[in-house]
Amino acid sequence: MQHIAVLGATGSIGTSALDVIARHPERLRASVLAAGGRVEQLLALCERHRPAHAVIADAACYPALRDGLRARGLDTQAHCGDEALVALVSGDACDTVVAAIVGAAGLDSTLAAARAGKRLLLANKESLVLAGELLMRAAHEAGTTIVPIDSEHNAIFQCLPDAHAHAGLARILLTASGGPFRGRDRASLAEVTPEQAVAHPKWSMGPKISVDSATLMNKGLEVIEAHHLFGVSGERIQVLVHPQSLVHSLVEFVDGSTLAQLGLPDMRTALAVGFGWPERIASGVAGLDLLAQGRLDFEAPDLDAFPCLGLAFAALSAGGTAPAVLNAANEVAVSAFLQRRIGFLAIPALVEDTLAALPSTPATSLAVLRDADAQARRYAAQAIDDKA
Ligand SMILES: NC(=O)c1ccc[n+]([C@@H]2O[C@H](COP(=O)([O-])OP(=O)(O)OC[C@H]3O[C@@H](n4cnc5c(N)ncnc54)[C@H](OP(=O)(O)O)[C@@H]3O)[C@@H](O)[C@H]2O)c1
Repeated sequence: MQHIAVLGATGSIGTSALDVIARHPERLRASVLAAGGRVEQLLALCERHRPAHAVIADAACYPALRDGLRARGLDTQAHCGDEALVALVSGDACDTVVAAIVGAAGLDSTLAAARAGKRLLLANKESLVLAGELLMRAAHEAGTTIVPIDSEHNAIFQCLPDAHAHAGLARILLTASGGPFRGRDRASLAEVTPEQAVAHPKWSMGPKISVDSATLMNKGLEVIEAHHLFGVSGERIQVLVHPQSLVHSLVEFVDGSTLAQLGLPDMRTALAVGFGWPERIASGVAGLDLLAQGRLDFEAPDLDAFPCLGLAFAALSAGGTAPAVLNAANEVAVSAFLQRRIGFLAIPALVEDTLAALPSTPATSLAVLRDADAQARRYAAQAIDDKA
């Protein structure tokens, strides 16, 4: 029996993970469920999945969680805060961790899972962007298996099953849906609203990653993610816009062969790969009917309309603290956009300004990266206040 900690259980990935877990009661069990502040949703999940532990990040919500569990007659233990989460992830309560907290808030628990040698289903891409080298080193030293839970990286993972395949890898071709504003020029994006930005044409996701998809920052974060996961430089990663979102990514080998993984756009496939690997288990996702789909199109990304992708390539090439600064400024900008405090085009402008104001320094330790993250958040927040 695999005992699974689902971090970000109330979110889009968390919900999909619990759906796959519930399909396999004979081999999968949710033993820890963790969320940020939505207690009622967490309680409902506890009632359904009966975990041994439930964790809420927001301390103010702890009494409601504890009393709610008691009122429902559940013997799930209530906890709160990041320290409790890190302890549970590191200890015997689980052997598999689904890291699906959104943003840099997921860093400590993701790192803890990597250090503890758990099977790590890694959706929290921000932790890889922020501290990719440290995270990969910790995983390597602890013998941790990381299965990426991003459809693109999961596709690449499936195409590179062993060291021989890795050795012959020439390039990664990362596909992108293009988001809801594909085909539009920069000027026409000035007035788009949060509602339009989160209405993704192919994927149903949380608000932050949906906005990232609309700006193409999501693809930029994924380029950095691919660099860390697969040890490939930015020059060997090409982004292809593929509006059907059926080809989840491709790898090209030195002999001219290109392999791809295809499937319907549903994260349960990647999660089932993560739980079952190297076996295949049912995910609830139907197979792909290519005749019904009809066609597969590919085009180059428009870096003028969507400058975030270019900013991410530049941050990867600068290295050091630059990706942490990029990620932090983007989190602040996206949050301000969702609150209607800034416009859509201010997101790349703010990220660019923050990167220029805080030039990259060597990322010698986690403390240095955390400091860069904090400085970037302060700088970006101040820039927003100054303009308001
Ligand atoms: N959705 C996708 O299809 C997809 C695909 C690839 C990668 N990802 C990545 O997966 C991660 C999650 O994305 P999502 O779309 O599932 O986001 P989401 O729907 O917004 O869910 C975010 C989850 O994180 C929890 N959370 C927020 N802050 C927290 C904190 N400080 N401590 C503990 N938990 C906290 C939330 O809890 P509350 O509900 O209590 O706030 C919620 O459970 C992101 O890194 C995203 O980039 C997502």
